[in-house]
Amino acid sequence: MRPSVRATLLTGIAELVTNDPCVGDRSPLGLLRHAAVVVQDGSVAWVGPATEQPPCDVRRDLGGRAVVPGFVDSHSHLVFAGDRSAEFAARMEGTAYDGGGIATSVRATRAAGDEELRRLLGARVAEMRSQGTTTVEVKSGYGLTVDDEVRALRLAREVTEEATFLGAHVVPGQFAGRRDDYVALVAGPMLAACAPYARWVDVFCEPDSEHAFDAEEARVVLEAGRAAGLGLRVHANQLGHGPGVQLGVELGAASVDHCTHLSPLDVAALAGARDTTVATLLPGVEFCTRSRYPDGRALLDAGARVALATDCNPGTCYSSSMPFVVALAVREMRLTPAEALWAATRGGALALRRGDIGHLGVGARADLTVLDAPSHLHLSYRPGVPIAHTLEL
Ligand code: NIG
Ligand code: FE
Repeated sequence: MRPSVRATLLTGIAELVTNDPCVGDRSPLGLLRHAAVVVQDGSVAWVGPATEQPPCDVRRDLGGRAVVPGFVDSHSHLVFAGDRSAEFAARMEGTAYDGGGIATSVRATRAAGDEELRRLLGARVAEMRSQGTTTVEVKSGYGLTVDDEVRALRLAREVTEEATFLGAHVVPGQFAGRRDDYVALVAGPMLAACAPYARWVDVFCEPDSEHAFDAEEARVVLEAGRAAGLGLRVHANQLGHGPGVQLGVELGAASVDHCTHLSPLDVAALAGARDTTVATLLPGVEFCTRSRYPDGRALLDAGARVALATDCNPGTCYSSSMPFVVALAVREMRLTPAEALWAATRGGALALRRGDIGHLGVGARADLTVLDAPSHLHLSYRPGVPIAHTLEL
């Protein structure tokens, strides 16, 4: 490592999580105590024991804190207006979630001006950053007309490279009784208009909901998205034992998300597809809809790749907090604190097929999150306490 004026040495790191198994304790977390990091031109240039730290012009002492890779929140719906807190309150009194409330957000989002939507989106991204998230995937899906979906993706692209076209979120009211026409619109003109602004296509595949899409409808949209050059993601098996996981695995989706209701065959399919398809778990949704949690333990034990994300959205989980999700995964899904942190960082990066984020090996993007704590265990040991902050260099 040749130090330059632009290199910054970070010292006083009580515990460094690199997610690089070649470093430190050789575990998946690549954990190093009493560590130092050199950041140069936006990338990690050196990591190692503090006793071996190289000279640098600029030094920053982190005062005995832990440093982890920035959280990769690989599933969110941040482009929306309106308020659905009354729906949440009704749910806490027993009303079941079925996706019907999405129409409320669609109405409010269509009615909002560009500046208003941009302001709301920016505030949500800032809220995430302030809690340690450095990459976020953002879906459309509250526009559901060609122009409104394009607008959502244009705005999403202003805040992230990871924009996802979710025209197939629900069948909008004006297409009642004409589902096939809506699927044709999504897979045809809407996709054509949206693809230039998106990296991914997603479908809410949930035959148990009259608002969402069955396997054949989902297949039409996903195959059209793939033909348009987009990568595939699927909302799958959230409300019941549906076909979404098997469809996602068959089509080579980067991620199947929710995975709340899985059969042994679904678990086996995800384990078999571990190098292609990540199982993304969103336990904030189960918390906020008072539902059973996915069996994260079974997925890991079977050998599947698991990611954790917030699903931040106005209906099923209006939380932007990755530390909250990590704590839920440990408490409710029996992941170890190390597995949960890995899933919220490297797992999310794999779900987005990104090699430059989710770890702090040499050459990675310098996305660092500092914990006001001496170790990563505190993420789940101190639930609800705002200890994680993105390091602004
Ligand atoms: O991932 N399930 C589909 N979409 C979102 C919820 C959207 C909403 O209710 O507004 C989810 O849970
Ligand atoms: Fe979602």
